[in-house]
Amino acid sequence: MAEVVVVPDAQAAGALVADTLVALIRRKADAVLGLATGSTPLATYRALAERVRAEQLDVSAVRGFALDEYVGLPAGHPESYRAVITREVVEPLGLNPRLVQVPSGDPATITHAGADYEAAIAAAGGIDLQILGIGRSGHIGFNEPGSSLASRTRIKTLTEATRIDNARFFASIEDVPTHCITQGIGTILAARHLVLLAFGDSKAAAVAAAVEGPVSASQPGSAIQLHPHVTVIVDAPAGSQLGQLAYYEHAWAHKPAWQGI
Ligand code: PGA
Repeated sequence: MAEVVVVPDAQAAGALVADTLVALIRRKADAVLGLATGSTPLATYRALAERVRAEQLDVSAVRGFALDEYVGLPAGHPESYRAVITREVVEPLGLNPRLVQVPSGDPATITHAGADYEAAIAAAGGIDLQILGIGRSGHIGFNEPGSSLASRTRIKTLTEATRIDNARFFASIEDVPTHCITQGIGTILAARHLVLLAFGDSKAAAVAAAVEGPVSASQPGSAIQLHPHVTVIVDAPAGSQLGQLAYYEHAWAHKPAWQGI
């Protein structure tokens, strides 16, 4: 089962994940990170950037793969996930931009962009640690409800709910693309360690369905139950609908110190 850790806030989650990422990079200088966009992982990226600076950690060989990208935004659009990953991850951490890939949402190459991305991940030896957020719909990456649990990177149609959620980053809802390219659920499950973050009560139902609900394509987050190494880090509001909360807290309180997340 997923390990569930309840933390006070996103900053505490960020500190915990940064610990794990620093340990990973020390162990494997060319670690392959799976990078989520959205508001949720920002505190984690900030915490990691701070650790990289404070400890003068060599991240020059660290590689990264973003989860997803909009289809059809003009190159360089500030809300393209290429731009977001550059701004929030590559620059603050001082990563080599050539080692950080984002799926291409260029309509001219979209028919083979998914297969190209899968080939690039495979050539890198797979993703060591995949950071995930979860949408209110239960999506992970942009795998909306109904996505095949075996899916690989491909084009998807965004739900209207996701377009409305993401309209806050655009001038208007009309500017939010209708399509995206996203790592599939099968792609995500191939990463060696999944770290799913969720904060706030708007995520409570999706978190409970992901961790404890039946495994179902209707709740893409529930696919994490198929993975042998998952850490779910939530604040109390996001964890409020979990039925086994007392057990998770007991397990965390008694976790052997050597084990890490
Ligand atoms: P958020 O998005 O981090 O902005 O809440 C998460 C998601 O939609 O996967």
